[in-house]
Amino acid sequence: MRLLLKLLEEKNVTDQYVAWFANKEVARFSDNQYEKITFDGQKAYVRRCCESNDVDLYGVFDEGKHIGNISISGLLSFHKRAKISYVIGETSYWGQGIGTFVVAEIIDKAKNQYKLNKLYAGLADGNVGSKRVLEKNGFKLEGVRRRHLQYNNKFYDQLDYGLIL
Ligand SMILES: CC(C)(COP(=O)(O)OP(=O)(O)OC[C@H]1O[C@@H](n2cnc3c(N)ncnc32)[C@H](O)[C@@H]1OP(=O)(O)O)[C@@H](O)C(=O)NCCC(=O)NCCS
Repeated sequence: MRLLLKLLEEKNVTDQYVAWFANKEVARFSDNQYEKITFDGQKAYVRRCCESNDVDLYGVFDEGKHIGNISISGLLSFHKRAKISYVIGETSYWGQGIGTFVVAEIIDKAKNQYKLNKLYAGLADGNVGSKRVLEKNGFKLEGVRRRHLQYNNKFYDQLDYGLIL
């Protein structure tokens, strides 16, 4: 495996990429389950990210194959903090340390490229994989918003994690 993070471009939007979001496992703890994700919609989303100075959207590529995304948003904040969110859309790649690696890479960029002071992320309690990914990268639990999220007709606490850089 040879992993690379690269700013996502419109040309990277493929049917296979759009299909990630229709996968119930992938969308299990994501607001994507409420949205109709389309090819044109994703193209427009990627274009907006490319044009924005506030958000950078990276694709995760394994030897050229697009397998996931990670975004960092809030880059213009006076507070020098940004939010990250990530997905490994190709589920055959799960459980091999890729999520952990991708977050480690964005931490490195947050420090050295974006010169931020803090990263943060929120997730549904129950998203065990995502929780592990953050904790393995040193994120600390900063707060719990009780029954803040509803996925698949079930309410979950939202866990807010932060990392001081
Ligand atoms: C969450 C996600 C990014 C994890 O990616 P991944 O590449 O499988 O993560 P890693 O392989 O680095 O796993 C990190 C740890 O979590 C564990 N883990 C991963 N998925 C798990 C799951 N579904 N259940 C239990 N443990 C899990 C791994 O075993 C590993 O633990 P270890 O180091 O103690 O062995 C991936 O499952 C995903 O994209 N999910 C859908 C989107 C999503 O939920 N994004 C986060 C929104 S907040």
